[in-house]
Amino acid sequence: MSELTRFQAKEIQQTEAEMVRFIREQTNDQTLQESMLYSINAGGKRIRPLLLLATIASFKKEISLGGYQTAAALEMIHTYSLIHDDLPAMDNDDLRRGKPTNHKIFGEAMAILAGDGLLTTAFELLSMAEIEPTEKVLLLQLLAKASGTHGMVAGQAADMQAEGKQVSIEDLMAIHQRKTGALIRFAMVAGGILANQSEATLTQLDQVAKHLGLAFQIRDDLLDVLSTTEVLGKETNRDEFLEKSTYPGLLGVAGAKQALLDELTAAETILNELASFPTFDARLLKEVCGLFYL
Ligand code: IPE
Ligand code: IPE
Ligand code: MG
Ligand code: MG
Ligand code: MG
Repeated sequence: MSELTRFQAKEIQQTEAEMVRFIREQTNDQTLQESMLYSINAGGKRIRPLLLLATIASFKKEISLGGYQTAAALEMIHTYSLIHDDLPAMDNDDLRRGKPTNHKIFGEAMAILAGDGLLTTAFELLSMAEIEPTEKVLLLQLLAKASGTHGMVAGQAADMQAEGKQVSIEDLMAIHQRKTGALIRFAMVAGGILANQSEATLTQLDQVAKHLGLAFQIRDDLLDVLSTTEVLGKETNRDEFLEKSTYPGLLGVAGAKQALLDELTAAETILNELASFPTFDARLLKEVCGLFYL
């Protein structure tokens, strides 16, 4: 078993337990709770909690309860973004994480509310987390920025407005960096904050994650064209149908593959710089980067 597989098995399970425990405790409407837990328990790669927790571990620090709580809050926000992304008014998808989308099971109104519930509860969880107050306020602010109108929500708005249009590569990059990159940047920076790192180190982590976040959405665009519904657990060839602005759409498959490789190389170069510090062991994060290749 690789170090990554061992790490994933243990640490992701703890994160999942934290999400489920908190949703059960804080949501007393039965159907709302079922709808929220349906999407949380449907699985998913858990790449954002993995990046957050692997970053803490790379600084040779114990992962505390506060770490799992931050990872859980982040994954709850990501899951909410998927529920809303799949709604008929947005990408209108029927399949997610190998299961019918939330609105297909619970109806549109409850799916919207389950998303609202996950978003709000994520901040409730983080506000109650076992983290020193100054760090906690910083994490709350960064998570709000990454999720909201500076980050994911802004990216989703731009994504919708770019449907059916030819956008420049710079504009597309800006869409991807916000809709997907922002939460991935939060994951690594939060890991650094929880591992008590300096401003300079946090900036380096942010740079690594900036490349990884863009890479992750380029990969997602490529998989929509190249993979299968069975493997992805979501319908493929949706982007062309929805006339989305994507990397393969703009650069072709070969161009998008090259862009993916360029972003991953850039991320790994900065990780190697970080690895010159004796307090940082890059091996685990490099293994995580391996998951970002096609
Ligand atoms: C899908 O995210 C949407 C994007 C932001 C690319 P993931 O590929 O992380 O989806 P899950 O969590 O594994 O289902
Ligand atoms: C979604 O991007 C990004 C989010 C913020 C949810 P996509 O619309 O490409 O994600 P998939 O392909 O449906 O998972
Ligand atoms: Mg979308
Ligand atoms: Mg979508
Ligand atoms: Mg996609």
